[in-house]
Amino acid sequence: MLISGGLGFVLLLAAAATSERLDYYYKYHPMEEISRWMSQMQTDHPDVVTLVDYGQTYEKRTISLMKIGLKTDAKKKAVWMDCGIHAREWIAPAFCQYFVKEILQTYKTDPKMELMMKNMDFYVTPVLNIDGYIYSWKDATTRLWRKNRSPGPSAGCYGVDLNRNFDANWATVGVSSNCSSEIYCGTRPISEPEAQAVTYFLGSRAEDFLCFLTIHSYGQLLLVPYGNPNFTAPNYDELMEVGRGAAAAILKVHGRNYTVGTSPDVLYANSGSSRDWARQQGIPLTYTFELRDNGTFGFKLPEDQIQPTCEEAYSGALHIISYAHDKAFNGAAAATATVWSVLLALGTAKATLL
Ligand code: ARG
Ligand code: ZN
Repeated sequence: MLISGGLGFVLLLAAAATSERLDYYYKYHPMEEISRWMSQMQTDHPDVVTLVDYGQTYEKRTISLMKIGLKTDAKKKAVWMDCGIHAREWIAPAFCQYFVKEILQTYKTDPKMELMMKNMDFYVTPVLNIDGYIYSWKDATTRLWRKNRSPGPSAGCYGVDLNRNFDANWATVGVSSNCSSEIYCGTRPISEPEAQAVTYFLGSRAEDFLCFLTIHSYGQLLLVPYGNPNFTAPNYDELMEVGRGAAAAILKVHGRNYTVGTSPDVLYANSGSSRDWARQQGIPLTYTFELRDNGTFGFKLPEDQIQPTCEEAYSGALHIISYAHDKAFNGAAAATATVWSVLLALGTAKATLL
């Protein structure tokens, strides 16, 4: 009795410390727990999960992503997702973890997810701005830190807004050149190692990527390029239509409204964002997700909203990813089906005429 009770307690503790318990995903986790979880996922799913180191932060921490997909000999397409580019938006890393858990579970029983994992690799960075994220966990006074942690040109000022530092219409609108500002864009495009990591990793293989999703909070928005109102994406109509489909999918889950539009139309104009840069690289479907809420709690979203927020955002993300997948991989099959239906219709017409 005593022995089995003790053993049970030890097992429970072990499970509580890892991701085997579902409620692991409904709490916020400090960086070292997220890093441990990333390694654990690779250990638990060695055939589908590979960790890839692709850069270093200002404070010399390694930036890693999780490459997730089924091995095939065919050339694969890819999907990008990053979370935690802004330190204080804690729901974003929680969403990346949930997303990874969910796809790893789903592909085993759902043929569509299995097909997507065969045709595409998912590149997921759970925390991009690692230094900033750790700083936001330090104490109550640093909880709302947004930027990275590189020292500015003048003494006593820290941090560049990484989402103003990319080489896309850099410093043209919605930025500050004052290093103590929350939207300080740095001294030049991609001055920051974290922005360099994404730029060099993605830049060398942008043509493989069908979509680019960068996860933020808050505002319940799906933002499409571009942040500078003087530019319009060539596929703006497609981006809006697919975005509205994603918002409809989100609404169905827990009744939350997400607004779709360019940043200047629905939030504010900006420049140097990773979303805009990714679109300029030729990635067709690039979106910024601004998760819950609408300002009641803002960046300090209570833990009891992690589950519903992740569930609805997952549904929205899958809508975009499925669209991207089907456009790339069902295109040939769909075209063939169209030819056949036209031939059949012609055949019917001819029969009617005779
Ligand atoms: N994550 C957003 C950003 O990248 C902040 C949005 C919060 N502000 C708001 N008014 N909803 O700047
Ligand atoms: Zn943000």
